[in-house]
Amino acid sequence: MPEKFYITTPIYYPSDKLHIGHTYCTVATDAMARYKRLKGYEVMFLTGTDEHGQKIEDKAGEAGVTPKEYVDRIVEGEKGVLDLWKLMNISNDRFIRTTDSYHVSAIQKIFKAMYDKGDIYKGKYVGKYCKPCESFWTESQLVDGKCPDCGREVQDAEEEAYFFRLSKYADQVRDLLENTDFLEPRSRVHEMVNNFIKPGLEDLCVSRTSFTWGVPVDFDPGHVVYVWIDALFNYMTALGFMNGEHHDLEKFWPADVHFVGKEIVRFHSIIWPAMLMSLDLPLPKKVYGHGWLLLDGGKMSKSKGNVVDPYLLAQRFGVDALRFFLLRSFPFGSDGNFSNELLIQTINTDLANDLGNLVSRTVSMVEKYFGSALPADQRVDDTLDKPLVDMGSSLRDRYEAQMEKYQFQNALEEIFKVVQRANKYIDENAPWALAKDMEQSGPRLARVLYNLLETIRLCAVLLTPFMPESCEKIFLQIGAGAPLQTWDSAGTWGALPAGAATVRGENLFPRIDVEKELAELEEIAAQAKKAALPAIELEPLTTESVDFDTFCKSDLRAVKVKACEAVKKSDKLLKFTLDDGTGTDRQILSGIHKFYEPEELVGKTLVAIVNLPPRKMMGQESQGMLLSAVHTKQGEEKLHLIMVDDAIPAGAKLC
Ligand code: ME8
Repeated sequence: MPEKFYITTPIYYPSDKLHIGHTYCTVATDAMARYKRLKGYEVMFLTGTDEHGQKIEDKAGEAGVTPKEYVDRIVEGEKGVLDLWKLMNISNDRFIRTTDSYHVSAIQKIFKAMYDKGDIYKGKYVGKYCKPCESFWTESQLVDGKCPDCGREVQDAEEEAYFFRLSKYADQVRDLLENTDFLEPRSRVHEMVNNFIKPGLEDLCVSRTSFTWGVPVDFDPGHVVYVWIDALFNYMTALGFMNGEHHDLEKFWPADVHFVGKEIVRFHSIIWPAMLMSLDLPLPKKVYGHGWLLLDGGKMSKSKGNVVDPYLLAQRFGVDALRFFLLRSFPFGSDGNFSNELLIQTINTDLANDLGNLVSRTVSMVEKYFGSALPADQRVDDTLDKPLVDMGSSLRDRYEAQMEKYQFQNALEEIFKVVQRANKYIDENAPWALAKDMEQSGPRLARVLYNLLETIRLCAVLLTPFMPESCEKIFLQIGAGAPLQTWDSAGTWGALPAGAATVRGENLFPRIDVEKELAELEEIAAQAKKAALPAIELEPLTTESVDFDTFCKSDLRAVKVKACEAVKKSDKLLKFTLDDGTGTDRQILSGIHKFYEPEELVGKTLVAIVNLPPRKMMGQESQGMLLSAVHTKQGEEKLHLIMVDDAIPAGAKLC
């Protein structure tokens, strides 16, 4: 019987399109699930969506659809959650939606079970409420009067509600955190104990009456279950807990690890175990709180308008390169700064220069020198081969040690040390020099190329969880069939048969032109920012009134453009020669060159105020002002000269 491994991501709020930060956690979970499958485990990888709560109800209202229609669109619609995971090659075994009916009825039973036990009781809530986080807080928990999780304003709240006796489990939870390795990294333990447990755990408000989009408390109409209770139990209902939809609870519970972002560690490491303790259920073995991907030093969030679109990056750089970058560039337990430069640099250095080059150089040398099949006659040179062979043979162990600690970055570092060593080995052995005398050096050349192919194979096996599609292509190029792609085969040097046959393929990771790519990405970001701006912005109406007589003092006249030219040394000013009906030309200067070319205005009938005192601009006199309409469109200033019917004679007064 294979060993079991149950791993989960958080279930995502389908309130907005998911961004690269969400993708980060799911890709990490996917790499871990694939790694365990590679090792022969029977894996259950669960992800899903957390679809209830006031936030969703509000957004659906704004969009003029029902909450269910709203979440359906974001989960199942084009470029929705399911589409994104398909694009990113996510190998989840199950997908739960908290609106699935089996989950809803299971949550009702779970709530009732805790109520029957006396751990949920009815009371009255008086305190503060953070709407975006859907969290209640006491005055003392606020930070500078604001929500301690997101830093936003909170509102006064008072309602009849059900409470969970969290306080009863404070000591047990503290013991779990302090004396076991339930929560990692360890730094998060101190944070939980110091910030939440030491100040005293208060009972938790677990029902709401202020909105209806949630799991109804079936024995008390009007109350819906707090979204976090509903959400946390997804990890068990998805296996069949309190429902007949699934039947894997015994097989997979308790979970081996929940991967969660650092801001939701509190829910997973305090509230979640306390509820499980209340129901006498086994606790998950581990909660791992990963860091955030930051942009310009802050957390990405749609409301700040600084999200990075995974679709765009996957389309430009390839899914595997993006998956690789996320886990190669940032230590999983800490925050990391995302930037396009870092992404391109990582792809160019690790994938194009180091790995891609190693594969293409090796495969083309096998083709060039041996017609794509190595001869079995090979000559080992211990002194020259040993450093690479030793590193390659022991790579799996070093990699495994890091993967078991969820240190993806370090595991990849181990692989890339070997890749770099192999590139150095090419230089040390200079195959092109050996090829000059094939009779003498052919067997040696064959061994050098064999060692390179074998190194590539070992690295590709261990890279599979990160870049499944690219590794498949590598295996094809180096002629390594299924038995040579296994975990076992990666533990020994020399599994590749001596007469290995290669197939030259496409360039796996083309080098990116940094400057050009950055400029294009910047342009795309600028366009996206523009598109996100309100389409048209108008100046607010002036509230101060003007009396009729004052207004009538402005002398507005129709004027015909006789000539128009740009003012020298000014990129803004146009000089108009106008017929104002008096028989004497009038000259007006106007800063509108950005909007019009002079020649397109000749002959037009415009409107001018002619009784403004003359003024000098760039040394030339302007006798009045032309009227125009202005507004802002998607962040860009727009101007239209007021043009009137050409049948209106020059000098006609407008009133
Ligand atoms: O919290 N970097 O859902 P969610 C890294 N529904 N991770 C990030 C991130 C970033 N910039 N932005 C978001 C919820 N995440 C709940 C979970 S579980 C029972 C219920 C991560 O859609 C975030 O840390 O707001 C969290 O782990 C996950 O995305 C889902 O966030």
